Amino acid sequence: MIIAVDGPMASGKGTIAKALAAHLSLPHLDTGSLYRATGVAVLDAGVSPEDHTACAALARDLDVSAIDEARIRTAQAGAMASKIAAIPAVRDALFEVQRAFATQPGGAILDGRDIGTVICPDADVKLFVTADPETRARRRWAELTASGETLSFDAMLEQTRERDRRDAGRSDAPMRPADDAILLDTSSLSIDAAVATAIRIVEKRQKA
Ligand code: C5P
Repeated sequence: MIIAVDGPMASGKGTIAKALAAHLSLPHLDTGSLYRATGVAVLDAGVSPEDHTACAALARDLDVSAIDEARIRTAQAGAMASKIAAIPAVRDALFEVQRAFATQPGGAILDGRDIGTVICPDADVKLFVTADPETRARRRWAELTASGETLSFDAMLEQTRERDRRDAGRSDAPMRPADDAILLDTSSLSIDAAVATAIRIVEKRQKA
């Protein structure tokens, strides 16, 4: 069973994907961490995101077993991830690792932006998790300020909108729901309610 969970930043897709993985005892890959880790590598190397060849080389050299969780979760890493994610050669470099994870025996759950459309168009269940930009900005702002970052809510809202524009507007693998994805809007749902809804959707599909 392959489950694809896509959606914009702070929509709740990661939390939902993790909870589904625990509920179904399936391995889970947060594909955003691959783009974030590449973004950190680009920052560390002092490479410009305009230098597509160098960014793609860093993506190819990424050691997925040595990703520094704390470093990839900063706003700076997220912003750079979204810039380098628009480079087709970077996406190509990260394709195989995602595809291999998805097709392991027993199945898997992957969350990201293009899982249902590009990485696993053959997924058994596709969820597209959304929430309005204000709600998402508030969630991410609370996380970042709790981890010690100082930025205003207005700046966070602007970053959220900018990230949405870039992720949905790029020509290669833009963020969009697959035609056969089920939409789940978490704007007015608690985490528990969102997770319970996702579990219901998947179990209904399994029965069908
Ligand atoms: O999901 P997360 O916010 O960690 O992703 C960081 C960035 O990585 C996204 O804004 C997006 O540009 C990129 N990404 C992507 N495709 C994926 C996962 C993430 O383009 N499957």
